[in-house]
Amino acid sequence: MQKIAMVDLLGQYNKIKSEVDKAVMDVIASSAYINGPEVKAFQSELETYLGCKHVIPCANGTDALQIAMMALKLEPGDEVITADFTYAATAEVIGLLRLTPVLVDVLPDTFTIDPVALEKAITPKTKAIVPVHLFGQCAQMEKIMEIATKHRLYVIEDTAQAIGSDYHFSDGSSRKAGTIGTIGCTSFFPSKNLGCYGDGGAIFTNDDELATRIRMVANHGQSVQYYHDEIGVNSRLDSIQAAILRIKLRHLNEYAEARNRAAAYYDKAFSGHPAVSIPAREKSSTHVFHQYTLVLHGKNRNEMKEFMASKGVPAMIYYPVPLHMQKAYTDPRYKKGDFPVTEQLCANVISLPMHTELSEEQLTYIVACAMEFLNS
Ligand SMILES: Cc1ncc(COP(=O)(O)O)c(C=O)c1O
Repeated sequence: MQKIAMVDLLGQYNKIKSEVDKAVMDVIASSAYINGPEVKAFQSELETYLGCKHVIPCANGTDALQIAMMALKLEPGDEVITADFTYAATAEVIGLLRLTPVLVDVLPDTFTIDPVALEKAITPKTKAIVPVHLFGQCAQMEKIMEIATKHRLYVIEDTAQAIGSDYHFSDGSSRKAGTIGTIGCTSFFPSKNLGCYGDGGAIFTNDDELATRIRMVANHGQSVQYYHDEIGVNSRLDSIQAAILRIKLRHLNEYAEARNRAAAYYDKAFSGHPAVSIPAREKSSTHVFHQYTLVLHGKNRNEMKEFMASKGVPAMIYYPVPLHMQKAYTDPRYKKGDFPVTEQLCANVISLPMHTELSEEQLTYIVACAMEFLNS
């Protein structure tokens, strides 16, 4: 059996190697390394895929969030609400821009931001909400959008982990993750569902004026070359990455299906086991399984991780420490016990290998190892 990886990027590359190699060599031969035709073509193909008016590529997902907040002219002291259970990048840019991060707890089953807690956290200083579509499915966007409309707040969707996921509204309409709020932000980090072979990111919006501002902020604050209207940043997706992403975008749905097949295999094996909860599905969202994350009951997940490693199976802890208990985000407003769901999740979650190349033989072996631990 082939060695099991948490994410098998090489196996995935081997299947599209000839196409990718040619595309990369073509960019090199074209010498259009920055803002070349590949970037424009990728931008337009992603707009079509998402059903979104504007995609603005940038250098990574963290930049995407920062540029979104700068384009919305959020000012120091403005409060931005986000989930306590997320990757630090979400809160990092809020802090970097001297905005005030306001953390709220997540739902215990889907791990996405709790809309009730979110509404309670709104104050006159609140300007924006950043829901995180964690592990591959959307937060409860219909409720979040209702709250945002009622309180006149911007919504910046962090869809770094859920590109391609569909959200279904109660009126029967559907939208792609990241195209529902004011702005959507994503990452093309290699291990992401749509990952390039380096760093990359993008910002989505249906608002023409905002798209112009986003482009300006991402391009040194200039709308005309060498005329700088405000202080911006330099954040670009390079042409080689765009060329690779164009190829991978054509496979994105098939990649999501492969991830769902692996998730269904895990579900069948673990459902009903008293020592674990399988990942719950948000009823209004499809799941693209960026991660497959179990919650353990009465078993130590660090011991499980070590046990799995001893059998040659990697596992990861996303995330071991809630944001409000991270050294960098220490704040007198928050203390241990404030976000019990996140704290409980951080102590008990474990993510199993999840990628597009998992074979049935590998899945059988992973499940057998996990079961050996869980039944011990
Ligand atoms: C939820 C979330 N937001 C933002 C980011 C930041 O993306 P990047 O690593 O491309 O800056 C990540 C990536 O790890 C993420 O998982």
